[in-house]
Amino acid sequence: MIWDTHAHVDDTRYTDDFPEMLGRAQAAGITRILNVGYDLPSSERSLKLARECDFIYAAVGIHPHDAKDVTDTTWDALRELAADPKAVAWGEIGLDYYRDLSPRALQQEVFIRQIELADEAGLPIIIHNRDAHEDVYRIVKEHTPKHGGVFHTYSGSWEMAKQLLNLGFYLSFAGPLTYKNARQVLEVAEKVPSDRYLLETDSPYLTPEPYRGKRNEPAYVREVAVRLAQARSLPLEEVAVQAWQNAERLFKI
Ligand code: NI
Repeated sequence: MIWDTHAHVDDTRYTDDFPEMLGRAQAAGITRILNVGYDLPSSERSLKLARECDFIYAAVGIHPHDAKDVTDTTWDALRELAADPKAVAWGEIGLDYYRDLSPRALQQEVFIRQIELADEAGLPIIIHNRDAHEDVYRIVKEHTPKHGGVFHTYSGSWEMAKQLLNLGFYLSFAGPLTYKNARQVLEVAEKVPSDRYLLETDSPYLTPEPYRGKRNEPAYVREVAVRLAQARSLPLEEVAVQAWQNAERLFKI
């Protein structure tokens, strides 16, 4: 049993084979999926899927790319979505200085606002951090979420990881762990405490080896689990169960 804790299966890339894609996930033992929003429409779609499908849960939130499109009514709408029992996290939120699609000051403001909203809603947060380590760390240190959170597709150093673990965060591993140049993230995978790691695909992005180049889908989270198990010299089963229990603790399911 593996839980893909970060996917975007509402993406139009699944329109043609949605039931088959979910069938492949179930056949591969992926029995839970957390579908993550990045703007208001995708948050609504995530919750709709979660209501329709037993084994799908939803996260709602505004990605830093979309910080520039936020209005006052966005927060009211998200608050309402977050109150649904199938909404188990606030995200994905954070900072992205790689693509800089919204002004950095605004990204920070929207990130902090959503940590506050997650606190009010009683939800943990899912953090997206790209090339913004210093500012993300400063913000989560000053505004540590009351209900915890996870750094999704963690890509930083072990030094940074230790600081985040000290603040109570979880670290989630995705396809990049299987890539040939994964030295830095492999070190984190080896050293992260057993009660702090999660597994994810970030489907349709970040396809793991040996499927790299194809569209990603939740069934492939198995490859990430296999690599994590190798890195920790543990049986696949043990890593999968541990990651599942960690996710249940964080998302309170
Ligand atoms: Ni994502």
